[in-house]
Amino acid sequence: MSPAQAILSDPTLKACLPSSFLYGAASASHQIEGCIDADGKGRNVWDEILKDKKGENGEDACNSYEMWREDVGLLKEYGCGTYRFSISWARIRPQGDKTDKVNEKGIAYYSDLIDALLEAGIQPCITIFHWDHPQALEDRYGSFSSPEIVDDFVNFARVLFERLGDRCKYWITINEPHIFTMLSSMTYMKDRWNKETDYAKLAKTLLLCHAKTVDLYRREFQPTQSGKIGITLNCDWAEPIDDSPAAKEAAQVTLDLVMGLYADPVYLGKFPDSLKSEFGEHAPSFTGEEWALVKGSSEFFGLNHYGTSYTTGERLDRATASPVEYAFGRTKRVYEKDGKLIGTKGENGHPYDVPWGFRKLLRYIHARYTGPLGLAIYVTENGFPVEGEGKLSIDEAVNDTLRQTYYAGYVEQLLRAVKEDGIDMGGYMAWSLLDNLEWVFGYGPRFGITVVERDNGFKRTPKKSAYLLRDVFRYALGGK
Ligand code: NOJ
Repeated sequence: MSPAQAILSDPTLKACLPSSFLYGAASASHQIEGCIDADGKGRNVWDEILKDKKGENGEDACNSYEMWREDVGLLKEYGCGTYRFSISWARIRPQGDKTDKVNEKGIAYYSDLIDALLEAGIQPCITIFHWDHPQALEDRYGSFSSPEIVDDFVNFARVLFERLGDRCKYWITINEPHIFTMLSSMTYMKDRWNKETDYAKLAKTLLLCHAKTVDLYRREFQPTQSGKIGITLNCDWAEPIDDSPAAKEAAQVTLDLVMGLYADPVYLGKFPDSLKSEFGEHAPSFTGEEWALVKGSSEFFGLNHYGTSYTTGERLDRATASPVEYAFGRTKRVYEKDGKLIGTKGENGHPYDVPWGFRKLLRYIHARYTGPLGLAIYVTENGFPVEGEGKLSIDEAVNDTLRQTYYAGYVEQLLRAVKEDGIDMGGYMAWSLLDNLEWVFGYGPRFGITVVERDNGFKRTPKKSAYLLRDVFRYALGGK
């Protein structure tokens, strides 16, 4: 049986999704566009972080700044009903701040892309901020955690609502604040990162950027544009390795620090209980006025999910834990139990393919956040970097059996979550449309459902997983 057969041969899954469900693929500006100095774009922090890594930075990426029409063609070919992409802040406002002049060529790029998507019957889903803020802002404020950046952020969003909002009905304010924070501690803030305070400080600023943007949209744009707006959070499932209270508590702390730090305020109007013990006096707080903006500031749950790990119950020492370990609540996480790996290993050494972990996470989010509020979960990223794929021939890379198994397993769980658990799922977007720049890891890890030959005119070739996704979603949506 092919990996997709479990879905395609189950009559209960046929047409189990509502027609409003959005199936599609995702990308992000800095990871695909290239042309980093074209048409008046300013420098962004990633242009600087990776500037000495020739061939492994965003200078040319997938050249989507020039080849976006082909990308739209691929989405159409894959049967996508939506495309999630992000806007490069420095293309729109080269200096980033609210007084900076809008760069019309930057607007034109995204405006043309949106028109072509709509023409192809594909709904644009825009991520306002996918980590690539202008370097000028970083220079001016010394860090994204400075509260002054909030105004600039909201102002940038205003330009997008004004210029693109008539045609875009799905907005994501911020992509994965947790990973953005972690990457900041590893890169441009590395030498000045205070692991006791910076994580919480940055989280607070990001939440305010998000909440004030949503407030602006609701007050000035939503009444006429009638789109949906929300945030996207990353979360892998944390499974206690055994029944010990320590392993269970560590699993909860991991979920709290990765997702709850953002999800609890946004959906529940409070911080998770464990924050006090984790951050002590540095735990983030809001004024009453800020809480009024933060609580209820997402109209869906945007989820980026990849895999699962076990928590052992062991907690790492405050003094020696790295900033990244801090970001996971200093919990020790492993990938093996009784000598057995939890899933298939991906390019970065972590095992990924754990569909049951995905199902548990969907149930957790539904029970804690979306169910009681009557909101839908949108999977805004899900994908698998096949180990060693970059070293394969094009034909071999196209025949991506491990990725196909991964996708079939995860999509099956999503459909069963709808059918059997009654969970409201609004959409699913594969990460990623193209093999692209994986930030500090360069072009090694390949998450794409399309091969991009960067040394051969950026030629795009669909992988088999792209057709698997098309077929299973077509079936689940009741199409031909
Ligand atoms: C999360 C991020 O949003 C995206 O930029 C990244 O490439 C993928 N996950 C894969 O790690």
